[in-house]
Amino acid sequence: MTKRVAILISGGGSNMVALAQSMTGDHPARPVLVLSNDPEAGGLAKAAELGIATAVIDHRKFHKDRSAFEGALNASLEVANPDIICLAGFMRILTADFTAKWEGRMLNIHPSLLPKYKGLHTHARALDAGDSEHGCTVHQVTAALDDGPILGQARIAINKGDTPETLAARLLPMEHALYPAVLRRFASGDSRPVMLG
Ligand code: GRF
Repeated sequence: MTKRVAILISGGGSNMVALAQSMTGDHPARPVLVLSNDPEAGGLAKAAELGIATAVIDHRKFHKDRSAFEGALNASLEVANPDIICLAGFMRILTADFTAKWEGRMLNIHPSLLPKYKGLHTHARALDAGDSEHGCTVHQVTAALDDGPILGQARIAINKGDTPETLAARLLPMEHALYPAVLRRFASGDSRPVMLG
């Protein structure tokens, strides 16, 4: 049975594009919705070009009422009826109620080698720490931020002279390789971690 995948974005959606373009042929999943909290998200036009249904739930209309915002998210998601939700550059913190509802069916990509550097500014923090390597992680989403079971990681070396910008730019293609590989394995019912680089 083909798994239905909803992808949540807030910005350019490059990870969403990589995921959507991977779901072809004998892939066990297909994208059914791209949803953004930001009506200006560039990823919305990219999703429409790919023929994927889109939705916008503008968090600013809910004036910090997280549960009302998430109620609207859930209403939109329930129409799409996804088996799996992929957070892909989705920049809103989700409540424990929301993560509990989707736990075991919701993935996220985070630009660090978790458990290191949960939260923001991961590239700068890895550089400031003098780390020799960096990377990204796909994990199951739980109530704790950037903390759920790890489903895959991709590693890159940190080069002399790297800046947060050069590191992010070198990491992004690895994200675009890792997330689709994890989704394909996860959608086939295999939760063994994918390790790249
Ligand atoms: C990426 O660095 C990703 O790791 C983080 O959001 C950034 C933008 O992703 N979660 P995208 O281009 O919008 O997919």
